[in-house]
Amino acid sequence: MRAVVAAVDCPVTMKMRLGWNENQLVYAEVAKRAQDAGVRAVTLHARTAKQFYKGNADWEHIARLKRSVDIPVIGNGDLDDPHRTIERMRESGVDGVMLGRATLGNPWLISQIRDLMEGRPARPLPDAADRLRFCLVHYRTMLEELGEAHAVPQMRKHVALYLKGIAGAAALRERLMRLDRSADAIALIEATIAKLESAPVAA
Ligand SMILES: Cc1cc2nc3c(=O)[nH]c(=O)nc-3n(C[C@H](O)[C@H](O)[C@H](O)COP(=O)(O)O)c2cc1C
Repeated sequence: MRAVVAAVDCPVTMKMRLGWNENQLVYAEVAKRAQDAGVRAVTLHARTAKQFYKGNADWEHIARLKRSVDIPVIGNGDLDDPHRTIERMRESGVDGVMLGRATLGNPWLISQIRDLMEGRPARPLPDAADRLRFCLVHYRTMLEELGEAHAVPQMRKHVALYLKGIAGAAALRERLMRLDRSADAIALIEATIAKLESAPVAA
């Protein structure tokens, strides 16, 4: 950590889990050493390496870490609801939060949390057609960045997540998984938007 801090001109931050397993919860010790080495902030994903993604992130440990170091602490793990996120922040005293899986297919979560942080009511989610319009922007950006061969398989997962809560999502996902060309996937999304707009359904 010292070597990295010494080698670069920008602030160095780090992210870690609680430790290898529940018997080796080394996070507080590691964070203190990081602080001493000049690391400027630490993010804690409150699971052990052995847990991988099983069980729940234990925010008690995040609160404990916040009390253990002076550098800013960023909490991470299982944040998927704007109000619960604010509660987690208040309970643990963290300086910030890092979002993970819940933003896949739902990037609006970020603005909702920001609304609450800034004292406004959380904005509602866009309607289903607008969510899919955003999915098209995501798709086209991935095509530009990665090209057809890499973007198509990656976007299968993302489109499936954007379809969450939309009527007929299961059948649409199944069709999507069988499409190998971006033009066909985009046409399917566009047709779904048109269908939603001709007969809007609550979603
Ligand atoms: C698709 C995906 C990619 C990830 N990539 C990284 C990564 O490159 N570096 C990292 O530290 N964590 C990575 N993570 C872990 C997340 O940053 C986060 O710590 C973890 O998902 C727990 O937060 P969550 O419960 O909100 O998802 C990744 C997670 C996912 C789902």
